[in-house]
Amino acid sequence: MTCDDVDRTACPLRSAEWFAPRDLPGFIHRSTLTPVGLGRQELDGRPVIGIANSWSDYNPCNAGLKQLVEHVKRGVQEAGGVAFEFPTISLSENLIKPTAMMFRNLMAMDVEESIRGYPMDAVVLLGGCDKTVPAQVMGAASVNLPTLCFGAGPATPPVVDGAELGGGHAVWQFVDKLRAGSTSSDLDALESCVMSTVGHCAEMGTASTMAALMEALGLALPGTALIPATDGRRANAAAAAGRAAVTMARQGSPTIRELLTPEAFDNAIALLMALGGSTNAIVHLLAIARRVGVSLQLKRFDEISAQVPLIADVRPSGAHLVSRLHGAGGVPAVLAELKSWLHLDALTVTGRTLGTELDAAKPADGQVIRRAAAPLSRSGGIVVVHGSLAPDGAVLKVSAASPELFEHRGRALVFESIEELAGTIDDPELEVDASTVLVLRNAGPRGGPGMPEWGMLPIPKRLLAAGVTDMVRVSDARMSGTAYGTAILHVSPEAAVGGPLALVRTGDEIELSVAGRRLDLLVDEAELVRRRGGLREFAGPRRGWAALFDQHVLQAHEGCDLDILTATEEPPVSRPSG
Ligand code: FES
Ligand code: MG
Repeated sequence: MTCDDVDRTACPLRSAEWFAPRDLPGFIHRSTLTPVGLGRQELDGRPVIGIANSWSDYNPCNAGLKQLVEHVKRGVQEAGGVAFEFPTISLSENLIKPTAMMFRNLMAMDVEESIRGYPMDAVVLLGGCDKTVPAQVMGAASVNLPTLCFGAGPATPPVVDGAELGGGHAVWQFVDKLRAGSTSSDLDALESCVMSTVGHCAEMGTASTMAALMEALGLALPGTALIPATDGRRANAAAAAGRAAVTMARQGSPTIRELLTPEAFDNAIALLMALGGSTNAIVHLLAIARRVGVSLQLKRFDEISAQVPLIADVRPSGAHLVSRLHGAGGVPAVLAELKSWLHLDALTVTGRTLGTELDAAKPADGQVIRRAAAPLSRSGGIVVVHGSLAPDGAVLKVSAASPELFEHRGRALVFESIEELAGTIDDPELEVDASTVLVLRNAGPRGGPGMPEWGMLPIPKRLLAAGVTDMVRVSDARMSGTAYGTAILHVSPEAAVGGPLALVRTGDEIELSVAGRRLDLLVDEAELVRRRGGLREFAGPRRGWAALFDQHVLQAHEGCDLDILTATEEPPVSRPSG
C-alpha cells in the first residue's frame, strides 16, 4: 500500500497523517528525517513501528536492550516496516532514589506522550526492570495503538558454593545470615558476582512476574517472557516481535485496549497466583486496569487466589530460578496447566486466542511446573485481608510466608519512620519477642513517598541470633518481589492520609487471620476517635514532580496511579507540528 495523496480512506495508517500529505507539513515531516536516512522512498505508506527503549547505563537489568533493539528493527524491516527507536526514562530499581515506584507514573507519562505525539502505527515496548514494564503498558494503554511488549529477559546468576544465586533473594538471605552472625563469608565476595550478567532479577520477583503477566494479558508473544537475557533465542524472539508489530500495524489491530479486557486481567491474576508472583504486580495491574476503564478491585485477586493453585516451584516461593521455568516450557506451560481457570477466548498480539496459542505448550513436567492436581499449594500465592486496621485492604504473600503465623495475635511495636526503625531495631533493650507484631508507618504512596519496598522489616538481631526467622510485620509499604516473610503490605488507606495505621500505638494488640482474611487493631472505637483528634495533617513536598505526585497519587488499593491519568479518551493528534 502506498499513500501518494492525502486521502486517508485510501491509507488508514496513522503515520500517513504525518508522511502522506503533499503539502508543507508533509514536506517538513519527511525532510526532517533525511539526516537519519529516511525520505519519501521509505515513508511511502509502510507501517511505522515505534520502539520505546528503556535501555540505560544506569539500569543493567535493561542493558541488553541496547543490542536486542537491533533485532527488533531487523524484524520490522524483514516484514516491510520502518522502525523508529525512541528513548524513554529508565527506572533502575536498586539505584534511583527515593524509590523507582515514585517515578513509574512519570515514565508512563513519558511513554504515553511519546507514542501519542510521534508518527507510529504500532509500538513495541522494551522494558525489563520492575517498574519499567508497567509504566510502559500504562502509557501505551492510554493511547491505544497496536502494542507489543518485549522484555530484557532474566539475568544468568552465577553458581556459588554449589548454589545458584538469584539476585535480590540471595542478597536478602545473606544479609539475614550476616546479621545473625551465622556466616563467615563476607559481602565482598557476593558483591562481585551476585549481579553478573545483564538482565533482570532471575527469580520470580517483580520483573519476572510482570514479564510473565504480559503473556497472560496477551501483550507479549507466547513463550518469550523468560528466555534468559543473554540467550541467542532472545535475539530471535526480538526479531519475531518486530515482525509481529508490522502485522499488527497493517491490520490496525489488535489495539492494546482490545487486549486489556476484564477476562485478560483475570487470566493475568490466575497466572500471578500460580507463579507465587510479586505483590507489586497487584498495584501495577490495578493501575493498568484503571487506564483502560476496567473495574478491577483488590477482592478479585483474593477470589482468584482462592481457586487457582500455586504450581510453579520458583523462588522466592519455591526452589528454582526462572531459567528452569523457561526450560520446563515457560509461561505457556504454566498457563496450559491452568486452562480450566482461564478465559481461553481472550485475544493476544498474534491475533489468535490464548487458547489457540496454548495448544502448542509443553505439558507440565510435574517438578518445576507441578500438575494442577498435585500443586505446591491448593490456593494461590497471595491473599487480601481487610479489617479495622486495613479498611481498604492489605496483601500478604502467603507462598513466601510462615503458615504458623497465619493466625496470630501479638503486641504492636510501632516505628514512625524507616529512620527510626533503622536506629532502634537492633537495640538490645528493645522490648520485642518472636510474637511481637512489627509495625512501620508513613511508608505509603504519599508518606514514603512512593511506597518504598520497606515492607520486609528486618528481624531484630537479638531474635535472629536466637533462631527466629520470621515475624508478623505490618506496613503501608511494598516489598521487593524477591523478598519473603509474613509481611502484611500495602495497608490502605496509608497512615499519611489518616488511615487507622496512623492510630496504632506500641503495646496495642493486632490480630491477623489469614483464614478469615482479617487484619484488626484490637482497640475500642472511642479510644481510636480520641487518638484521631491528635493526628497532624500530612504536609507533602511543594516542588516539581514530587509535588505533582503527592497531590494526585491514588492509594495502593487503587493502583497508585495519578488521578489525572486514569481512563479518558484523548483527541487524536491532527494539527500540524509546530
Ligand atoms: Fe532490576 Fe531486580 S533490580 S529487576
Ligand atoms: Mg524492587
